[in-house]
Amino acid sequence: MPEADKEGKDYCLDVPPECKGFFLKGSNSLDWGMKNRLARIFNPETGRTVMLAVDHGYFQGPTTGLERIDVNIVPIAPYADCLMLTRGILRSIIPPSYTKSIVLRASGGPSILKELSNEELAMNMEDAARLNVSALAVQVFIGGEYETQTVTNMTRLIDMGTRYGIPTLAVTAVGKKMARDARYFRLACRICAELGAHYVKTYYVPEEFETVTASCPVPIVMAGGTKMLELDALTMAYNAVQQGAAGVDMGRNIFQSDAPVAMIQAVSAVVHKNLPPQQAFEMYNDLKNES
Ligand code: R5P
Repeated sequence: MPEADKEGKDYCLDVPPECKGFFLKGSNSLDWGMKNRLARIFNPETGRTVMLAVDHGYFQGPTTGLERIDVNIVPIAPYADCLMLTRGILRSIIPPSYTKSIVLRASGGPSILKELSNEELAMNMEDAARLNVSALAVQVFIGGEYETQTVTNMTRLIDMGTRYGIPTLAVTAVGKKMARDARYFRLACRICAELGAHYVKTYYVPEEFETVTASCPVPIVMAGGTKMLELDALTMAYNAVQQGAAGVDMGRNIFQSDAPVAMIQAVSAVVHKNLPPQQAFEMYNDLKNES
């Protein structure tokens, strides 16, 4: 039995308790576990994140650059704030000593050979808790053939995650024939947020992107899309964060770059330090030449 200690007497009566709001928009009323997980994805100092998306294999198999995730992605992962991937790749390849945050792909079903919007939820919350993930990602096809099914996937995931304190990232997926403009993304992002998504991944559009971020009450991260020139990708990331995005969730424009480690560091400088695109491109070239 330890002896009883002396009663405390320094109550700092002249120091008022802090009552700060949470740093992410729309997230102040969430529970502690949700906020803590979001603070592992988004850097609390900048309010932004660099997510590295490598989940492409869940519907398209070994995409260029992802043939060997152990060889091509593990070396880049430490430079990201967060890794977005499937539980199969997480368990089979990512070392458990990796301590950056994980966002797990939670929907799936159809391959590129079928109608992609016909997705279902593809994992349960117990496994997400077991894997210690910071959020779950679900594809939402607004205007797609299985629109309602994918919206219901999202709302079910949000309900399940709320019981465990695990946030949901809604990923706005655009059908091949649909217009990719601000009007569409305002609609898609707002629907996801209205129905409870904790943050939303969406594409950048050159016109009125700031209205997409402004009309979405929760953080938006910019999707990368197909590979473009490094300077163009850095410019797109710069414009997105200057116009209200809380970071990026990029895949091919990082891992298909000639120098992925250099590229992710340049993207990170754009996102967290507001480095202008031309300077970020110079940084990319310097790091590329050094390596
Ligand atoms: C979306 O459809 C998936 O989440 C992708 O596999 C991934 O996030 C896309 O990343 P990116 O377009 O930047 O390669």
